[in-house]
Amino acid sequence: MIRKAASTLDYRELARRRLPPFLFEYIDGGSYAEVTLKRNTEDLSAVPLRQRVLRDISKIDLTTTILGQDLAMPLSLGPVGISGMYARRGEVQAARAAHAAGVQFTLSTVSCCPLTEVSAGVEKPIWFQLYVVKDRGFMREMLATARELGCPTLFFTVDLPLPGTRYRDVHSGLTGSPGLAGDIRRTLQAMMHPHWAWDVGLWGRPHTLGNVAPLLGKNSGLVDFLTWTKDNFDGSLTWKDIDWIRSEWGDQFVIKGILDPEDAREAAKVGADGIVVSNHGGRQLDGVPSTAAVLPGIADAVGDQLTILADGGVRSGLDVVRMLALGAKGVLLGRAWAYALAARGEAGVAHVLQLMDAEMRVAMALTGCKNIAEITRDALVETGYHR
Ligand code: GLV
Repeated sequence: MIRKAASTLDYRELARRRLPPFLFEYIDGGSYAEVTLKRNTEDLSAVPLRQRVLRDISKIDLTTTILGQDLAMPLSLGPVGISGMYARRGEVQAARAAHAAGVQFTLSTVSCCPLTEVSAGVEKPIWFQLYVVKDRGFMREMLATARELGCPTLFFTVDLPLPGTRYRDVHSGLTGSPGLAGDIRRTLQAMMHPHWAWDVGLWGRPHTLGNVAPLLGKNSGLVDFLTWTKDNFDGSLTWKDIDWIRSEWGDQFVIKGILDPEDAREAAKVGADGIVVSNHGGRQLDGVPSTAAVLPGIADAVGDQLTILADGGVRSGLDVVRMLALGAKGVLLGRAWAYALAARGEAGVAHVLQLMDAEMRVAMALTGCKNIAEITRDALVETGYHR
């Protein structure tokens, strides 16, 4: 039994023990048969790093600048929904850990702590992810709040015009058991996980979705949110609507959820400052390729026009180096930090970021890269697959 976490995989195990199943399965799972979920981790970990030796690696510099932000390393915490259910006021804890480590925190639209609460909990402005919903009045309000709070960059997620089905959520009781039966099931699960029940179930209230609560009215609980996404996410969205977003926001923005070079070119054409190459952590269209597989093609298509970030399957600093070598300028962590938050709160997230730092240093030292700019496809063994 793991007592002390040495890796993000250990944190996954600790999170599994600590959380009621309806929450663990929600973070851990993917959509349908989870083919893409598996591809993300399997393809990325199979990318062969090219070992080089005797290259004076006594000084390794992880610092970089992404979207105008000076970062201690080329990664940030990506948006993960309902993180405030994994630890008490979880988004604030995670944002504090990120900023202390010199990286950015990206708040999800569907967070428990609202943007105002997270911003008040840290000293510097955070990044914010916004879903494009049918209610443009809500969007205008969120954009105004983000502007007031000094958010330098917004991330618009475009790969969720409708939600993919996650079988595990049906089985766990998150979505599968409506009404009172579901409430009872989830309460029983919580009672079997007393640390969580005390820390979050009792003291982590309110269990509402801080940003969208005004839209949800009295039905602002976690389960209602899943129904709300089905009804409110805007399936009619097209590239033309990005113009509306750009003119309303008027500042730096990133399009999250790009998996194809043609779409990446469109993103460059509509003036996005960056894209996140992402398949939503294998939670949307099952069967699409891993992000590691498509990243080189996208980097070749638009790498000189906008900032390419990537997520999907990153579980170690070695994986961060792989993503950079495949063409990303930076990486967004998802499950890696959510597991740690669930297991140990802010200290867990801080530890995962220390692990990433240490692991990146080893990967860079042994591929002969002294700084981030030196991580190119030359850091990979030529296989024909990534070149
Ligand atoms: C929401 O973004 C989810 O993947 O559940």
